[in-house]
Amino acid sequence: MATEFHMPLQGLVGLLLLCALPWTEGGKVLVIPVEGSHWLSMRDVVRELHAHGHQTVVLAPEVSVHIKKEDFFTLKPYAVPYTKQGYERKITQNINLAFETGNYVKTFLKLTEAIKNISTDVFKSCLDLLHNETLIQHLNSSSFDVVLTDPVLPCGAVLAKYLRIPTVFFLLYLPCDKDSEATQCPSPSSYIPSLLTRLSDHMDFLQRVKNMLYPLALKYVCHVSFTQFESLASELLQREVSLVEVLNHASVWLFRRDFVFDYPRPIMPNMVFIGGINCANRKPLSWVCIEAINQSLFYAECIF
Ligand SMILES: *[C@@H]1O[C@H](CO)[C@@H](O)[C@H](O)[C@H]1NC(C)=O
Ligand SMILES: *[C@@H]1O[C@H](CO)[C@@H](O)[C@H](O)[C@H]1NC(C)=O
Ligand SMILES: *[C@@H]1O[C@H](CO)[C@@H](O)[C@H](O)[C@H]1NC(C)=O
Ligand SMILES: *[C@@H]1O[C@H](CO)[C@@H](O)[C@H](O)[C@H]1NC(C)=O
Repeated sequence: MATEFHMPLQGLVGLLLLCALPWTEGGKVLVIPVEGSHWLSMRDVVRELHAHGHQTVVLAPEVSVHIKKEDFFTLKPYAVPYTKQGYERKITQNINLAFETGNYVKTFLKLTEAIKNISTDVFKSCLDLLHNETLIQHLNSSSFDVVLTDPVLPCGAVLAKYLRIPTVFFLLYLPCDKDSEATQCPSPSSYIPSLLTRLSDHMDFLQRVKNMLYPLALKYVCHVSFTQFESLASELLQREVSLVEVLNHASVWLFRRDFVFDYPRPIMPNMVFIGGINCANRKPLSWVCIEAINQSLFYAECIF
C-alpha cells in the first residue's frame, strides 16, 4: 500500500515543480512519444516545457513520419528494423483496411493480421532499445525527474517502470479499456457503448448483446499486441508483470479527450482531461478530406 501511494505523490510533486512554480530550477524530462498523429500535440507540450526552462530529451525511432529534430528538445534517435518507405506504405495500407466496408469477420481477420505484423516491427525495435545496455545505463545515470509518454504502445511505459522514474501519461485512449482497468474506473458494457459498435447509450437487448461481444474480438487483438510487452517487462523486472501493473506506474494521466464527446463516467483524481490540446494546431481541412468525410470514406492522409 505504502509504495502505491508513494508513486502518485512523487509524480504529482514532480508535475507541480515542472508546471506550477516558475521560480524552481528547470527539471529533466524524458519524452518517449508514439509516432504519427500522436506526436503532434505532444510536440506542443514539449515546446511549452522548454519555454518554462525544462530540459527535454525526446527518445524516438530513427524512422518516423512526424518526429524531427527541433531546437526546443534534444532528439535521441534509436535504431529500428524497417525503412521509412516500407513503414509508411504499411501504415497507410493498414489504416485503409480498418475502414473497408464489407464482411466484418473478413475485415477483422485481415486487420488482426496487419496489427500483428506492425506490432511485431514496433515490438522488435522496443526490444532492441531496452536490451541496449549502453543506452539504458546512460538514461539511468541522466537522473530524469519525470517521463512523459503515450502508453498506447507501452514501450515508454515499460522503460519508465524499469528505470523507476515517475511518469506522466499523455494519451487519447487505450484499447480494450486498459485505461479504465489500470485506473480502476468502472466502464460497464451495459451502459457504455464499445468502440466500433456505433451504438449510443440507449440500447435494446440485442444491441447490449452486441456491445458485450465486440470487445471480445478486440480483446484478442489487444492480447496479440500487448502480451509481448508484458513478457519484456517480466524479463526486465525478473518477475511476472502484467500490462496493468506497468500502466499503474503512472502518477498522472493526461487524456486528450473531452466529455463533450465522452459518456459521463467516474474518474480518479489523477486523471486530467485536456481535450482542447487537440485543437492547438488547427488548419483548414483540404477538399479531399471534406469530401471523404462527407461520403464517409476514409483517407489515411486526412489524419496522418
Ligand atoms: C509483414 O508483412 C510483410 C508483407 O507485407 C511480410 O513480408 C512480413 O513477413 C510480415 N511480417 C510478419 C511478422 O508477419
Ligand atoms: C545502443 O545505444 C548507443 C547509444 O545510443 C548506440 O550508439 C548504439 O549503436 C546502440 N547499440 C545497438 C546495438 O543498437
Ligand atoms: C540505475 O542505477 C541505480 C543506481 O546506480 C541502480 O541501482 C539500478 O539498478 C539501475 N537501473 C537499471 C535499470 O540499470
Ligand atoms: C456532401 O454530399 C452531398 C450529397 O452527396 C452533396 O449534396 C453536398 O454538396 C456535399 N457537401 C460537400 C461539402 O461536399
